[in-house]
Amino acid sequence: MKKERIYSYQGDAIEVHYSLRRCIHAAECVRGLPAVFDRDRRPWIEPDHDSADRVAEIILNCPTGALTFARKDGGAEEPLPAMNTILVTEDGPLYVRGNVQINSPDGLVLKEETRLALCRCGASKNKPYCDNSHLKIGFQASGEVRENQLDLNPVGILEVVLADNGPLRLKGNFEIMSSDGISIFRSTKISLCRCGGSGNKPFCDGTHRKIGFSSQ
Ligand code: SF4
Ligand code: FES
Repeated sequence: MKKERIYSYQGDAIEVHYSLRRCIHAAECVRGLPAVFDRDRRPWIEPDHDSADRVAEIILNCPTGALTFARKDGGAEEPLPAMNTILVTEDGPLYVRGNVQINSPDGLVLKEETRLALCRCGASKNKPYCDNSHLKIGFQASGEVRENQLDLNPVGILEVVLADNGPLRLKGNFEIMSSDGISIFRSTKISLCRCGGSGNKPFCDGTHRKIGFSSQ
């Protein structure tokens, strides 16, 4: 994983942190609070232009985790999401929310996260995160998920193990949702394709070996 450069924007009551590499311009921030987040202004984030509670609320909508915050006024910090969910977007990344650990195959915890966008086209230069490369390569994949009826509460730690030159191995209680939010697949263990080549997306079918996928 590449080192992340985090920019800080100080307000009186809240400090906002921003990772340019993780931002794929879904624009929830700019649409939600244009007085605070304005791409045409420098600095582009002015935390004092609204209440700290509002700024925190909008940051929680950032699907990639590019934005995070720390309160300076004793206000509530970011809560853990109520469930571990993976949203499969059409032609795009996997949006993950939850109590997430990104781990190496030998069990090293590389990162702890609550919101992230994971590459599933295989082309990101910032793996395992999405960097919008799917747009450049014209990645096509449906946002469909096969439905199952597993009675499971998707809470607790969700481990995302980055298999070398292979899939994202999920461990823990989680639910995977289709892009339309209708089909839900619940499980405790599954491998998700991140090479872009699986014939059974979003799941891995071993194609990464045939195509010589490199996870670097
Ligand atoms: S919501 Fe997050 S990913 Fe979207 S534009 Fe804002 S910072 Fe970037
Ligand atoms: S990672 Fe794509 S098929 Fe295994």
